[in-house]
Amino acid sequence: MPNSKIKTANSAKSIFVANVKGGVGKSTISIMLARVLAEKIPPQNITLIDTDLQRTATEFLSKSNPEINIEFLPITPAFENTNISLVQQFIKQNEFRPGHVAIVDTPAGSSQRLWNLVAEGYCVLIPTTLSNADLFPTENFIRSMDKVKARYGKSYPHLIVCPNKIPFGQKDFSLMAERLNNHDVVIGPALRDLASVRHFYNGKVENWENRNNSNAQSDFKQFGSFIEKFVLGGELDRIYSENNVPKNVVPIR
Ligand SMILES: Nc1ncnc2c1ncn2[C@@H]1O[C@H](COP(=O)(O)OP(=O)(O)OP(=O)(O)O)[C@@H](O)[C@H]1O
Ligand SMILES: [Mg+2]
Repeated sequence: MPNSKIKTANSAKSIFVANVKGGVGKSTISIMLARVLAEKIPPQNITLIDTDLQRTATEFLSKSNPEINIEFLPITPAFENTNISLVQQFIKQNEFRPGHVAIVDTPAGSSQRLWNLVAEGYCVLIPTTLSNADLFPTENFIRSMDKVKARYGKSYPHLIVCPNKIPFGQKDFSLMAERLNNHDVVIGPALRDLASVRHFYNGKVENWENRNNSNAQSDFKQFGSFIEKFVLGGELDRIYSENNVPKNVVPIR
């Protein structure tokens, strides 16, 4: 195997949340993932790296979960080179801290330097809705990630498509699975189109905490358990190390 990065369940891991497409839920998923993981592993072992100039993740998490580490390293044309190097350094250093997880919220857009950085991660979460307007660029993004992986002969990062803003009651993801069939991706559990999340940024953190958001809680809890088992727990490594890897794995409920 050309890959040297053999991970154990306790190895440090970096999870990038990325897509060329804007508004698909990258920041929301980064924040919610950090929060649900903070209930499963010591929050001091979690670092959220916010590379989006909008600071969405930083602002929300610093108030709601001050025990989670937050690094704000905006990747915009002006700061691109410096901050990409800093994120790279952070990920490298983090590898020597067993049990640590770095979640990197990235900005939309198609900077090749950013994609090269994302390709250094252990896993990439790729949120998308089921609409063609999002699926089409998402496919292109997956293709370019596959190319970077092939160029360096790497089997990492694992690519996980995260269906987001899914209409209530939608159970059939076969169309999406078909479209992604030629790519080396896993489809993660769906997150529904949740009113409480739609108004996420309108209010204060306290409003979110007090709001009746049981649907959101159950979806993100399930999402967190999936990441815990398949990513942190090494289940994806196990699946990929088996000889007959299925085209793509669809671990939806
Ligand atoms: N599951 C969901 N249900 C309903 N609304 C959602 C869901 N996920 C995200 N949203 C909403 O979609 C909008 C975009 O989400 P978010 O900011 O997380 O996307 P993004 O990919 O980070 O965007 P950008 O590319 O601008 O950084 C927000 O208003 C958010 O509240
Ligand atoms: Mg964002």
